[in-house]
Amino acid sequence: MDQTGALSRAVEMIGRADRVAALTGAGISVESGVPDFRGAGGLWEKYDPFEYAHIDSFQADPAKVWHMLREMDRIVTRADPNPAHLALAEMERRGKLTAVITQNVDSLHQRAGSQNVIEFHGSHARLTCPECGRGYGREEVDLDADPPRCGCGQALKPDVVFFGEAIPPSALELAVQTALGCDLMLVIGTSAVVAPASMVPALAVRGGAKVVEINLEPTELTGRVADLTLLGRAGEVIPYLVEAVLGP
Ligand code: OAD
Repeated sequence: MDQTGALSRAVEMIGRADRVAALTGAGISVESGVPDFRGAGGLWEKYDPFEYAHIDSFQADPAKVWHMLREMDRIVTRADPNPAHLALAEMERRGKLTAVITQNVDSLHQRAGSQNVIEFHGSHARLTCPECGRGYGREEVDLDADPPRCGCGQALKPDVVFFGEAIPPSALELAVQTALGCDLMLVIGTSAVVAPASMVPALAVRGGAKVVEINLEPTELTGRVADLTLLGRAGEVIPYLVEAVLGP
């Protein structure tokens, strides 16, 4: 199917759906200036994920891992929501989207105005002390300290999910409910290679939903779990779809 045909088909599918949910990945924030992980120039080209993103590495040498975390924090705090984030927020405001399940920790959906955001991999905006359990907002902590520390002296950990850690149970439960309860899932800007997030679209299918994927390139879901794949930039495709379905 050519892209024009695929776009019309997506508009038709979304128009017909009653309960649309979205699953987003790093690709939705690329047009906000936040690099993804596995694309060209992605974060995992610069940092070996097993050296920097595994919980064992953090525990062994938090100061080293904080070099990457600080860089991510600078990028994310400079970034603003792009038209894709804003269009999803508009879709929710107009009653067409029930929830966004995001693998991103950048808070850009919330800053765009989305209310029901399920942070599957946590958030960079909060930190917790692994020793005493005290929680901090990002603005309460001196991130230039090497590493940032809790009042008890322990290195603080941002509330992001490292490899080797469990998905926050409430986020997992809400994501499962959302996937099983939707009748159409938009899967935007994820390579769908990191489980269990990569299994969420298949769960939606099991609940009877259709899956429409938006990505620059084919992924693990293309031609398998996805009923339809739109190849393009999220910041262009999502606003187009929302306006075509809901009007200006
Ligand atoms: P990836 O970097 O694996 O995939 C990003 C996807 O977005 C790729 O498929 C790109 O083709 C696509 N993409 C890039 N720019 C785009 C654009 N402008 N419009 C549409 N699509 C675009 O990121 P994720 O799938 O989110 O987890 O990665 C999943 C998890 O792996 C992350 O949450 C993180 C990482 O390790 C943890 O750290 C636990």
